[in-house]
Formats: sequence, structure tokens, C-alpha cells
Amino acid sequence: MSGLFDLGGRLAVVTGARRGIGRAMAEALAAAGADIIGVSARLRDDDEVAGTVRALGRTFEARAVDFADRAAVLALGAELAARAPDILVNNAGTIERAPAARHPLSAWDRVIEVDLSSQFALTQLVAAPMLERGSGRIIFTASLLSFQGGINVPGYTAAKSGIAGLTRALANEWAGRGVNVNAIAPGYIATDNTAALREDADRSRSILERIPAGRWGDSTDLAGATVFLSSAASGYVSGTILPVDGGWLGR
Ligand SMILES: NC(=O)c1ccc[n+]([C@@H]2O[C@H](COP(=O)([O-])OP(=O)(O)OC[C@H]3O[C@@H](n4cnc5c(N)ncnc54)[C@H](OP(=O)(O)O)[C@@H]3O)[C@@H](O)[C@H]2O)c1
Repeated sequence: MSGLFDLGGRLAVVTGARRGIGRAMAEALAAAGADIIGVSARLRDDDEVAGTVRALGRTFEARAVDFADRAAVLALGAELAARAPDILVNNAGTIERAPAARHPLSAWDRVIEVDLSSQFALTQLVAAPMLERGSGRIIFTASLLSFQGGINVPGYTAAKSGIAGLTRALANEWAGRGVNVNAIAPGYIATDNTAALREDADRSRSILERIPAGRWGDSTDLAGATVFLSSAASGYVSGTILPVDGGWLGR
């Protein structure tokens, strides 16, 4: 049974690995046995995540790439493809908050590029050796706003709804070729991404009141789903978006 979740000998790329959800995902994959290549805008070889992964006996390599820079993302994709990783976790993401009526187009463009277009560009390149080999796992970080409209975040909602569609589109084409594509939709998780919500007493209270589990999520709440979708345990799971949301969507 335990072998179902064993990732020993696997190489995983995790984007957004420097902090928050991505860091927890990288550490969970390493705890299950995978070596990690972490990517984020500012990731360094001596960041805390690197120390945690290495303390688990796995290797950690850091790549610093701005996902708003298309050329840099393509260069990263080519470099990673040459390493032929087994697992790609597309988790890096940004958010811009402003009401739709005055949401700056520059904010829209940046969020769509970082949270959607760069994700496809990177995945296309990193999936190539997976498809050639006939095995691989790809996980996107979706959102509750892959299902709902959100407030003050039209670009983010459009991007994360796009990620849901992209997950299904890639899964359709690649499941028969041994590459499973799925997404995890985190609920309200206490990270820098949601700091503005937690600082707004009214929003914070109304969000908390609606979470059946009665608490905000922690990044480590995403660990199990990440290992599951990366491992043999999910061999027949494809094109799904797995909410990890304390029951929010079921309410
Ligand atoms: N927190 C939530 O409640 C929640 C809910 C649903 C979905 N999500 C999604 O979960 C993912 C992780 O978010 P988080 O909550 O962990 O937020 P976070 O703590 O703000 O971490 C975001 C990560 O993404 C990286 N990143 C952001 N912009 C980037 C860029 N332009 N280029 C490269 N890397 C970039 C950051 O890199 P640096 O550390 O180097 O700056 C960081 O590692 C995102 O896709 C987010 O949309 C979060």
C-alpha cells in the first residue's frame, strides 16, 4: 500500500517553491522521495525550502525566473526539458486586486501572462520528454476562482478559470500517452497571496464564516493532494480539479 505513494527516484519541478503553497508542495514531494528543482521569481539556493528538502535527504536545485518574461520562461522550459523530469507542478502565481470597473489593463495583462500563458508555455516544453517516454505527471494550482467569480480580481479569475480548461484540454490529449494532467484547487489558504483579505476584518470574517471546516487552510493542507496526484495512487485520475478547501465548494 505505501508503495502507491512512493516517489523515490523521481525528479519533480515545482514552480513558486520559495514560499507558501509551492514550498509546502516541494517539501511534501521530497518527503515522499522526489528530488526537487524549485523555480520562482526570486528563489535562491540557500532559501529555507532548499534546506528542508536537503534535510530530507533529497537534492534541491534553485532557478530564479520571472514568469512575466516570456523569453525567460521559454529558456527555462528548454533547460528543464533536457532534464526530463517525472513531475511538473505549475504552482507559481500572482494576484492583482482592483474593482473590475477600474481594473488596470496592465494588471490584467500581467496576471494572464504569469498565471495562464506562461504556464502553458512551460508545460508544452517540459511535457515533451514525458510524452516521448510515455509517462509523467503534471499538476496545476487552480483556485476556487476556477469555479466562482471572486471580487476585485477579474484577471485572476479569468486566468484560474483558464487553468481549469487547460487542465482538461491537456488531459484529453495526453492521458492516452501516459501523462496525467490534473489540478488542485486550494481554498482560502493563509499565505502572502491572501494577506490583504486577512487584513480586512469584514472580508476575513465573512470568508471564515463560510468555511465548513471552521478555519483558514495552511499550506501544508495541500501536501496530501500533491503527493497523491504525483504518485501511482492516482494512475487512473486525469483531467480532474481536486478542491482542497475545507468544504467551501460543497456548501
Ligand atoms: N493562498 C490561497 O488561498 C490560494 C488559493 C487558491 C490558489 N492559490 C494559488 O496558489 C499558488 C501559490 O500561491 P500562494 O498562496 O502560495 O502565494 P505566495 O505565498 O504569494 O507565493 C507565490 C509564489 O509564486 C511565485 N511567483 C509569483 N509571481 C511570480 C512570477 N512573476 N514569476 C515567478 N514566480 C512567481 C512567488 O515567487 P517568489 O517567492 O520568488 O516571489 C512565490 O514563490 C498561486 O498560483 C495562487 O494563485 C492560492
